[in-house]
Amino acid sequence: MKILMVCLGNICRSPLAEGIMKTKVPGNFFVDSAGTISMHEGEHPDKRAVQTAANHGINISNQRSRPITKADFDTFDKIYCMDIDVMADVVSKTRNEEQRQKVSLFLEVLGDHENAEVPDPYWGDMKNFEEVFQLLDRGCDAIKSQILS
Ligand code: 4NP
Repeated sequence: MKILMVCLGNICRSPLAEGIMKTKVPGNFFVDSAGTISMHEGEHPDKRAVQTAANHGINISNQRSRPITKADFDTFDKIYCMDIDVMADVVSKTRNEEQRQKVSLFLEVLGDHENAEVPDPYWGDMKNFEEVFQLLDRGCDAIKSQILS
């Protein structure tokens, strides 16, 4: 099973989602992340995201931002989008229904709200990053259960 987490810049939310998910799934799973913009390409995650993950014993400092590619839609089985704008952008890059079916909103699995979004912590503070971490942790647990059931 190959899972791709996608946000806007691939320096805050999706690197955290990648790091969290990697701690939860079996070794034969492949988890990666990407952004819809290439502005931060090659950069390590935001230092607040790195610190927040480290507070929970997860090291995401070696990740590098990259934009989503055409090949990702063939490589990955599941593509989880952090918010509705990201989802719209990702869906617009799909080339057929099979690829479209791989794409969903990350928080949809929690079922609390059809359009639930992971808030962008980029303009916020460490408290916002911790809240995002908690949300992502719940979402990753639910996704894991769904995939493994
Ligand atoms: P992310 O957060 O999508 O969770 O990585 C952001 C990162 C960068 C920007 C916005 C959001 N930015 O405007 O550069």
